[in-house]
Amino acid sequence: MSKKPQEEIASLREAVREHDRRYYALDSPTISDAEYDRLLARLRELEAAHPELDSPDSPTRRVGGAVASGFAPVKHAAPMLSLDNSYDEADIRAWDERVRKNLPPGETPVYVVEPKIDGLSCALTYEDGRLTRAATRGDGETGEDVTANARAVRAVALTLTAPFPPRLELRGEIYMTFADFEKVNEEEKLAGREPFANPRNCAAGSLRQKDPAVTARRRLRFTAHSYGVWDAAEPSTHREFLRRCAEMGLAANSHESFESIDAVVDYFARFKSRVMPALAYAVDGLVIKVDDFAQQRRLGFTARSPRWAVAYKYPGQQASSPVLAVEFSVGRTGAITPVAKVEPVFCAGVTISSVTLHNFAEIERLGLKVGDRVLIERAGEVIPKIVKVVEKGRRRKTVSPPERCPACAGPVSREEGMVAYRCDNPSCPAQLRRTLEHFASRPAMDIVGLGEAAVDQLVSRGLVKDAADIYALKKEDLLELELFADKKADNLLAQIEASKSKPLDRVLNALGIRQVGEKTAEALAERFDADGLPAASVQDFQSVPDVGPVVAESLHAFFSSAAGGGLFARLRAAGVRMPRPERRAAAGAPLAGKTFVFTGELSAFTREQAEEKVKALGAKTSGSVSAKTSFVVAGAAAGSKLRKAQTLGVTVLDEKGFQELLARARGS
Ligand code: IVH
Repeated sequence: MSKKPQEEIASLREAVREHDRRYYALDSPTISDAEYDRLLARLRELEAAHPELDSPDSPTRRVGGAVASGFAPVKHAAPMLSLDNSYDEADIRAWDERVRKNLPPGETPVYVVEPKIDGLSCALTYEDGRLTRAATRGDGETGEDVTANARAVRAVALTLTAPFPPRLELRGEIYMTFADFEKVNEEEKLAGREPFANPRNCAAGSLRQKDPAVTARRRLRFTAHSYGVWDAAEPSTHREFLRRCAEMGLAANSHESFESIDAVVDYFARFKSRVMPALAYAVDGLVIKVDDFAQQRRLGFTARSPRWAVAYKYPGQQASSPVLAVEFSVGRTGAITPVAKVEPVFCAGVTISSVTLHNFAEIERLGLKVGDRVLIERAGEVIPKIVKVVEKGRRRKTVSPPERCPACAGPVSREEGMVAYRCDNPSCPAQLRRTLEHFASRPAMDIVGLGEAAVDQLVSRGLVKDAADIYALKKEDLLELELFADKKADNLLAQIEASKSKPLDRVLNALGIRQVGEKTAEALAERFDADGLPAASVQDFQSVPDVGPVVAESLHAFFSSAAGGGLFARLRAAGVRMPRPERRAAAGAPLAGKTFVFTGELSAFTREQAEEKVKALGAKTSGSVSAKTSFVVAGAAAGSKLRKAQTLGVTVLDEKGFQELLARARGS
C-alpha cells in the first residue's frame, strides 16, 4: 500500500501548499501547527532521500541562500503608483462626482471597497505559475529585489493553481498581525535590541533581512490588491481579479461592493466601529475602487495616482499634548522602561495619558525633556507612540536614567552594549508581578483569572512570593481578597489545577528564563524531559537546534541557580507534571520521525557521536533492529544487526552513505 516516493512527494507538496493557503489566504487552518510540521518534516526526509526529485518550488525550499550583498534594483514593468488620500467625506463625494462625470452618459460605477492595510507594497512576478521575482515598491519606478526573502514567507504562494496567466506581476501588501509584531518585539527586547515602533516597520524590517531564515520566522502576511502585468485574457472587473486570485491560491483582499457613494460613506462608519476593532492587523482607512476595468481605463491616471481609486482614511490618529513627567516601569526581566505621562488627550478613539518611550536611546533620539509638547500617533489599533517634539517647554527638565529601581529602590545597572537599564534585585516586587503575569499568560500556563489585578493583590498581601506559591493557594486565601467572591475563587482554583497538566514547553516559556521564548521552549521540550533539564550541561543545551552559546549559558545558569533550579523543583513537587508535548517534529528537524540503528565500527566518529548527530537532526536511535527501523548504519565488521536489517528490508547505509545523508539533511 505504500506510495511511490514520487507520488508521496507530490502529494505532500500539494498538501503543504494547501495548508499554507488555508492558514494565510483563507485564515482558517484545518490542521494544527504540529501536524503541519509533521507533513513538512516527512517531505524533507523524502526529498533528502531522493535528490533527483528536487524542485525549486517545493515548500521545503522556502529558505534558500542568503542575500549576497544588499538588494539589487528592479525596474517595475509598470510604475507602482500611490493613491490619493482623503480624511474628508466632502472630498470623497467630490471624487465620486468626478468619476461619474467622466463616464459615458447612463453608466454608473460599482465601487469595490477594501481595507487599506498598513504594510508595505510588494510586487510578485509569476512566470508559468512559478514565483520568479519579488520586489519592494521603492520609489515606484525601481524597487529592491527581495526574492529570496519573499520565498521564505509562507503567505506568499510559490506556485499558482491553474489556470493562471503565463506571466503575472501581482501587487499586494506585506504586513504583520499585532500579535506577531508583539512577539517579535518581545524577542528583540530579550536579546537587548531596539524594538520596532509599529507592525509596519517590523514587516518592512523583516522583509529586508540579510538572512531569509529571519524573515521566515517573522510570520509575515500577504494580501493581493492589484496587478502590474497580466499576460493573457485579463479579468474585466476588480472583483473578478480578486476571485481569480483566490482561485490561483493567492490571498486576496477582503472587500465589499456598493452602488452609491452614500452606501460607501455608511460603510466607512460601520467599518470603523464594527469591523476594525476586531481586526488582528493595522488598517488606516479604506480604499475605494471603480470595479469595471473598462471604466478604470477611461478614467485613467494623474501623474501620481489613478483617478479610479481613492483612499478614505480614518482621521484623528495624531494629537499633541504636553509631557507632564517621565516615569519608569520595571518589567519581568528587570528592564526599566521610561514611560511619558502626558496630559490626557483624545486620539483615534481613546484617551491617552501615558506613552511608552521604549528605552533611553529613544528619549535621546527625540531630544525630549519634561514640559515639551509632543506629537502622539496611534496608527491602527497599536500602542501609541511619540513621533516628535513639536514645541519645547518653557521650563524643561532633562530626563536622567534612574539611579535606583523605582519599585524596590535596589541598584540599577546597564549592561555593556545593551540599551536597557535593569533592576538587579531578583526579589524586586515589580519584577515578581510581571513574572507572575507572564507565568499565567495565555501562551504560558494559561491561567484565566490570574491577570494584573489578581497578581497585584496576591503579591501585596504576601500570599505569593514565586510562581510555585500559586499552587499552594487555598480558597480561604482568595476569599480574603476583594477580587474574589465565592464562584470566582472556585474558578481560579480550577484553572490553577488545570494548569498542572500543561506540557513542558509551556512551563519552560512560563518560567521566563532570559533569552528563552516560545520557540526555544518547544525545541527544548523536544529534546529533554523534566528530569533531564536540571542535569543538562551547557553543551547539552547547545546541542538543541537553534540554541546558541548565550542561550545555553542562560539555561544552565537558571537550572543550576538556587532560585531557578529551586523553583523548578518546587513546581514539580506541587504537582505540575510537565509532560512532554505530544508529537512533534519541529519544522526545522529534517530527520524527525526516523529511527537509526548503528552497528559495526565507523571510522570518522564514535557511535555516540554518530548518535548525537542524528538526534540533533530530530531522529531517534535504538539498539535493536525492527521493521520500524528507518536506517541501519553498518560500519566495519557489522554482524547480526546487519543481517536482520537485510531480512526485514530495512535500508542499510555504509559510512559514506550515512555521511551523505547527514549532509543532505543539514543542507535541506
Ligand atoms: S491599490 C495605484 N488597494 O496603499 C495604486 N493599495 O497609497 C494601487 N494599499 O502603495 C494600489 N491597501 O501599498 C491598493 N486595498 C488596497 C491597499 C493598497 C493598502 C497601499 C499600497 C499602495 C498604497 C497607496
